[in-house]
Amino acid sequence: MSETERKKVILSGIQPTGVFTLGNYVGAIRNWGALQEEFDCIYFIADQHAITVRKDPASFRKQTIESYALTLACGIDPKRSIAFIQSHNPNHAQLSWVLGCVTQFGELSRMTQFKDKAAKHADDINAGLFTYPVLMAADILTYNADVVPIGDDQRQHLELARNIAVRFNQRYGEMFTVPEGYYPKVGARIKSLQEPTKKMSKSDDNPNATVFILDDKDTIMRKFKRAVTDSDTEIRFAEGKDGINNLLTIYSCATGKTIAEAEKEFAGKGYGDFKLAVGEAVADYLEPVRTEYARLMDDKAYLKECWTDGAQRAFRLSNKVLTKAYRKIGFVDYR
Ligand code: TRP
Repeated sequence: MSETERKKVILSGIQPTGVFTLGNYVGAIRNWGALQEEFDCIYFIADQHAITVRKDPASFRKQTIESYALTLACGIDPKRSIAFIQSHNPNHAQLSWVLGCVTQFGELSRMTQFKDKAAKHADDINAGLFTYPVLMAADILTYNADVVPIGDDQRQHLELARNIAVRFNQRYGEMFTVPEGYYPKVGARIKSLQEPTKKMSKSDDNPNATVFILDDKDTIMRKFKRAVTDSDTEIRFAEGKDGINNLLTIYSCATGKTIAEAEKEFAGKGYGDFKLAVGEAVADYLEPVRTEYARLMDDKAYLKECWTDGAQRAFRLSNKVLTKAYRKIGFVDYR
């Protein structure tokens, strides 16, 4: 295939920090499978990013494997896409060193996530936490990715990756593709079931606030039964009806129906019945993910085959880019 016919490359990393929420799934992850049609996709579990915060090794290893299985269960096909674990491809860290040398201390000091995390982990402000965005730039640039799906919290990091690419290109000649961000729309709109003005979050203290994609049906039903609504009685999408709006949005995502169709369907019905119906719809919607996840976790040998193959393919692709970058910089050839 010639360069002009080449499909665009989409790349994203996810930290192995536990099960996704319904909000993550709807907003980002469920789209990943669909993107495989249009793009060459590269997805990885960002385990190297994760160790910027101290981890218990055994549970960290377990979470990395679970997260990998979960991405496959959510529709990433390890044959069509490259799906791997970051630490299995050494080229990210290699390029990260190089890119660190075209990144300014001042730029990294301005990263709001660094400032937040440094405040939160004041006893462990390690250098990795500081250079984290450089590794992220390397993740992206080492595949010359065109498009990077990320959450809003990663916008500043992507902007830095773009600046690094441009700067490298100016200094050493055209080398890196300057990546574009791809921001989820709907996910940001899925709110907590308990405080529907707040985003649904993985780390909510209230166990009824967040639906996780591996929750079983009973758990899902319990959470929806307890979902906060309002003192009105009408099921319609309207200003000030945050709880109902959220439930309508969720119902619409889970069933593919529009909000207007959902309003019509529930016209004249009570909130109690509506909440049960939303719970049922979400349970049905997530059931295939849960089943596939269980199947994969039962077959570790297959999972390992997938991530090994993914790492090898990732290595080959990224190695071409790294070798070229090394030449541009003036490192001496040795092969
Ligand atoms: N930093 C991202 C996050 O915390 C994860 C990540 C690492 C990533 N490398 C990436 C995302 C490269 C997109 C591209 O969510």
